[in-house]
Amino acid sequence: MRTVEWDDGAVKLIDQRALPWRLEFARLETVAQVAASIRDMTVRGAPAIGASAAFGMALAARECAEDDMAALLACLEQRGERLKAARPTAVNLAWAVERMLDVARSGECKTADELRRAMLLAAQQIADDDVAINRRIGTRGAALLNDGATILHHCNTGSLACVDYGTALGVIRAAHAAGKRLHVLLDETRPRLQGSRLSAWEMEELGVSYAIIPDTAAGFYMRKGEVDIILVGADRIAANGDFANKIGTYQLAVLAAAHDIPFYCVAPTSTIDMALRSGDEIPIEERDPAEVTTPYGVAIVPPHFKARNPAFDVTPHRYLTGIVTEQGIARPPYVKSLARAVDGGEI
Ligand code: MRU
Repeated sequence: MRTVEWDDGAVKLIDQRALPWRLEFARLETVAQVAASIRDMTVRGAPAIGASAAFGMALAARECAEDDMAALLACLEQRGERLKAARPTAVNLAWAVERMLDVARSGECKTADELRRAMLLAAQQIADDDVAINRRIGTRGAALLNDGATILHHCNTGSLACVDYGTALGVIRAAHAAGKRLHVLLDETRPRLQGSRLSAWEMEELGVSYAIIPDTAAGFYMRKGEVDIILVGADRIAANGDFANKIGTYQLAVLAAAHDIPFYCVAPTSTIDMALRSGDEIPIEERDPAEVTTPYGVAIVPPHFKARNPAFDVTPHRYLTGIVTEQGIARPPYVKSLARAVDGGEI
């Protein structure tokens, strides 16, 4: 079962807002619906957003009725901007849209219908590549986990955050499949609770031992010596290794350094943005404060109480032990190791 796939002229997604209570699917037939589903987090997680946007562009190629190739490209560029604007932080979104537009810009297709077919094939390729890349990440990262290890994990980086398999949770999955006995402490990840709702659901499916913990308990378990390693994902990694990930990642990194616990970021190379010199340049999404005051429709304070809701934070690269990618594990200096990984080199 894939988190996102093409289904007879539409984009089919697992509706992540309904989990863990119900496994429901959304069927999206317009670019506007794809953009809305990314914005309202029906689909979320950097690689899953990227693949959804790629299929969104395949839909755009059908929505744009122009037969003239220049006019068709202009229409696709405009739909691409609409998709990119849905969420600003995960670079996989812009990466996927640009890759899809490159198919149109290349001039290789001579007719509009040829281009429509080529764009669907390109989107399917992005989705298939995502699964293969995650499996490679899993194999690379599994060696970091010793038999009997307890891993602290933040947010959801599993198959739901990707097309399938997962990044940081993919590493855990690969090590579990190799027979290692693991225990995972899952940060609940306020305010959207991706850890307790989605990661715990995935651990149940895979049969991996886990416990959901309040985000605020992470330091408690580190100080007790119960955490051997911390694995998190990323939404965008700057050229120097600074990275944006789900809010709460930065405080975990600082606590890990204080307790001398290895701290790894796990991500595909499509999450690396070499155009940004440091994490200071990463755009950080601020979401509706109602997600904090009224999570999942349950008001925990009166409606006039004020709140703020940054969706991501930036962790400086000095807190990282390494970055696990499909090309290997990047180590400092990240400017060099990440550049090599992005170019397809082994690191
Ligand atoms: O707001 P979300 O749920 O889209 O945030 C997701 C994360 O921060 C993940 O850690 C990240 O996208 C990596 S997923 C493989």
